[in-house]
Amino acid sequence: MKELQWINAIPERDPGTYSGGLRCLINGEVREWKGAASDVVSPIYQKTPNGLERRQLGKCALLDGDAARQALTAALKAYDKGRGAWPTSSVTNRIQCCEAFLQRMEKRRLEVVRLLTWEVAKSWADSLQEFDRTVAYGRATIAALKDMDRASSRFVLDSGFFAQVRRSPCGVALCMGPYNYPLNEMYTTLLPALIMGNTVVAKLPRMGTLCNLPLLEDFAVSFPSGVINIITGEGSAVATPIMETGDVDLLAFIGSARVANILSQKHPRPNRLREVLGLGAKNPAIILPEANLDLAAKECVDGALAFNGQRCTALKIIFAHRKIADEFTARVARTVSTLAAGMPFEDGVFLTPQPEEHAVKRMCEYVEDAVSHGARVMNPDGGAVNLTYFHPAVLYPVGAKMKIWAEEQFGPIVAIAPYGDPNEFLDYVAASPYGQQASIFGADPAAIGRLIDALMNQVCRVNLNTQCRRGPDIYPFNGRKDSAEGTLSVSDALRVFSIRTLVAAKESPDSTQLAQNIIRGRHSQFLTRDYLF
Ligand code: G3H
Repeated sequence: MKELQWINAIPERDPGTYSGGLRCLINGEVREWKGAASDVVSPIYQKTPNGLERRQLGKCALLDGDAARQALTAALKAYDKGRGAWPTSSVTNRIQCCEAFLQRMEKRRLEVVRLLTWEVAKSWADSLQEFDRTVAYGRATIAALKDMDRASSRFVLDSGFFAQVRRSPCGVALCMGPYNYPLNEMYTTLLPALIMGNTVVAKLPRMGTLCNLPLLEDFAVSFPSGVINIITGEGSAVATPIMETGDVDLLAFIGSARVANILSQKHPRPNRLREVLGLGAKNPAIILPEANLDLAAKECVDGALAFNGQRCTALKIIFAHRKIADEFTARVARTVSTLAAGMPFEDGVFLTPQPEEHAVKRMCEYVEDAVSHGARVMNPDGGAVNLTYFHPAVLYPVGAKMKIWAEEQFGPIVAIAPYGDPNEFLDYVAASPYGQQASIFGADPAAIGRLIDALMNQVCRVNLNTQCRRGPDIYPFNGRKDSAEGTLSVSDALRVFSIRTLVAAKESPDSTQLAQNIIRGRHSQFLTRDYLF
């Protein structure tokens, strides 16, 4: 490993000290917070006269239960038991608000990306991509809703009844995203929730908070008061009191199953609560004996180490057939040695420091434990530590006694397990508490076909000769067991944040006339045949 250099910031990619951290959005008002706050400290060290020090990026408001309940009250008021202006508004109006927001958001690109890069040490290129992907997701959501609404404008006739079937909001949503995609995974729940007519309290992630805050004013001017409320703070201090009221209709949470379970158990009316959850995963890959090893090594390294392995979709264990396992591992180790480590604001950097407290210590423990059970670190400097930076470790041969076998490392460890019979791999997948995706590398159609058929009943996506991933965003993104509840894709998200509802009547001249009068007089936003797009 080239010695990691803690070089000082590139000025145009430096967010400086962000002064807007002590703010939240409640009831249409961007409020200054005078209470408790935490320091937001970057994982990036900088040279100072006192030596290397982590850079303080600003402060973040630690709201309390009262403030959180005020945000909820604002969302409840805007929903107004389903009679509020937002849930009864036309689809056109909601689309216009979202479009206005996205236009404003785009103007903040660099401000947001600078903070994102420095808060979670995501490379500049990946941070730009996360921002652009989020805006594109918003635009695709609008296009999908137009399609859906066009289709549901038609009346259905059956068995002497006519009906108009549409989708209506669920109510008040609490949306919470994770630190690894603090923009993208906030907005892939928040935007569909809003556009379907729900009102929202969004609790920002513990890390990756500041990068969301330049957008508070844009939300405030784009949406009516109370429709979107944005709060920060410890989950136990702000999300728990909100859930305990029993007034939340929908919990959209991307994070760990442990926290999701704690939150949903706080809700006193479980049957009222609908949940959309994106949780942990231990996505495995299998390398069949005749696989193209160069391709497999490249894809597996990228799949395991992109954003230092801090992705729910990362490849977290790789099963390599005994015939090729040594050769495959050597190629993986060589590929890891070619990856550039450095400061996330530098161009061309792939490996960066880790933002999560204790992550470096946890990675070291995985390596020590695996080595104590017979694995070896196969790459030069694998597992070397430099402050918040942990150099990826390629561990081989990994076995069932090791913690890395079953636990989700969520960090830069490439774990390779040799196998002889593909059933060993399938049994691993079946025994895992997770069930998101898997990758197959090979060329034998019969062997791959058999694996596909078995895997499809254990995970939700099988990737052929490529790593696991969420995108393209029009594809369903979901999981079985402890990995997810509900499906997110551009169009699926519109469905999970709404419920099918209909107006039906017996076919008769009177009821047809009545429906026509409602539509022609524009007396309802629901019962309408408007083709506005
Ligand atoms: O952490 C989970 C993300 O949704 C993964 O998305 O596969 O595009 O990195 P990605």
